[in-house]
Amino acid sequence: MPEKRKVTLPVLRNRKRNNKKISWLTAYDFATARFADEAGIDMILVGDSGGMTMMGKPSTISVTMEDMIMFTTSVVKGSDHCFIVGDLPFMSYQISNEEAVRNAGTLMALGCDAVKLEGGKEMASRITAITNAGIPVVSHLGLTPQSLSQLGGYRIQGKSLTSFKKLLTDILAVEKAGAVFHLLECVPEEVTQEIYRHVKNPLYGIGSGRHVDGQLVISHDMLGLFVGDVDPKFVKKYADLSSIIKEAFGKYKSDIENNKFPEKKHLYSIDGEDLAKIKEYSDKFSAD
Ligand code: KIV
Repeated sequence: MPEKRKVTLPVLRNRKRNNKKISWLTAYDFATARFADEAGIDMILVGDSGGMTMMGKPSTISVTMEDMIMFTTSVVKGSDHCFIVGDLPFMSYQISNEEAVRNAGTLMALGCDAVKLEGGKEMASRITAITNAGIPVVSHLGLTPQSLSQLGGYRIQGKSLTSFKKLLTDILAVEKAGAVFHLLECVPEEVTQEIYRHVKNPLYGIGSGRHVDGQLVISHDMLGLFVGDVDPKFVKKYADLSSIIKEAFGKYKSDIENNKFPEKKHLYSIDGEDLAKIKEYSDKFSAD
């Protein structure tokens, strides 16, 4: 088997040049990162979606830098080869260039290879400031969950000429500002294809069709591990882990109640002579 190499920006650019698609998944913990690494996944996003998948928050708005630091620390320990993108949470980059650079630096110091932020041309100066600090920035356009309230909910983007023009203006602005690659979320495939014609850097999609340089999916969605009523149309379910977990938990409970667990093979043994001494001592023992 060929030795696995760390995925870097030149590797990603090379893959685009050679028309080879990349695989990208979210991870928030050590084990998932290790499994992604061992499966040969190219990139990991330590997404602020972890606030929802791991912490049960209703949206990403209340995710903090402290949350992202915990997720990132765990993921970095699990992955040796994936290109790791750290997500800047809400209000960690919107206020000023200085705060954006400081928080991006914090994620990089933990071991990320790049940081991601949401937004278009209004974020150009943030992207340039972070880039000037030597940190690669990934742009996130289309459906941007941190602006859910402004967007009016989880809505498909780019469905009108006005919306397309805004997307195109935004992506060209963030590319000019220094974004090393882009993530486009929930845009019709035909619209993504038109955007793709105009960008130079790799363009990856989540729910944006096939005409991109690679796909991102939230690992909980593709594993069937989401709690509640989450079933995005664009996700292919590769497993139904919540059913498997619930079934296992149910069997465990029933085994305990029916004295089927633990069995003999789960017990630790003790030398007969030692046991005899313990029993003798115990028989004579009195607490007072
Ligand atoms: O946090 C995340 O997982 C994301 C994706 C929804 C793109 O930003």
